[in-house]
Amino acid sequence: MKMIAALVAILVLAGGSQADDIVEIGRQIAEFNCSECHAVGTDDESRHPEAPPFRHLSQRYPLDALEEAFAEGIYVGHPDMPTFEATPDQLAALLAYLATIQMTP
Ligand code: HEC
Repeated sequence: MKMIAALVAILVLAGGSQADDIVEIGRQIAEFNCSECHAVGTDDESRHPEAPPFRHLSQRYPLDALEEAFAEGIYVGHPDMPTFEATPDQLAALLAYLATIQMTP
């Protein structure tokens, strides 16, 4: 994916160990923006009763679909959930993190 490739390139230039850094950045984005309602870890509970834990998102649809969904802002229809605005790099990091915590049923 072009987007992730670009982010990896940036992190490599910055002297990081790319894969871990992306995931860590994504974890921080999730913690900062989403943990108010969603469980963002591997064994925590969602604070908002209707918000699905992030580790179960891939049971509802493929994570790939999320990238498009965020880009298009389809969550406007969910009254409790604010629109999430992120740069493509932040989005790529968030998705990379989400991919690491998915549980298969
Ligand atoms: C203020 C509370 C709140 C915050 C903050 C929040 N969400 Fe949600 N989110 C919800 C609720 C409630 C739902 C369930 C909505 C529904 O199913 O109608 C939801 C649903 C979702 C879904 C599933 C949508 C679906 O159709 O299955 C995704 C993906 C999601 N949120 C991602 C995120 C991400 C990523 C962030 C942080 C950038 C975030 N949310 C922040 C409340 C929140």
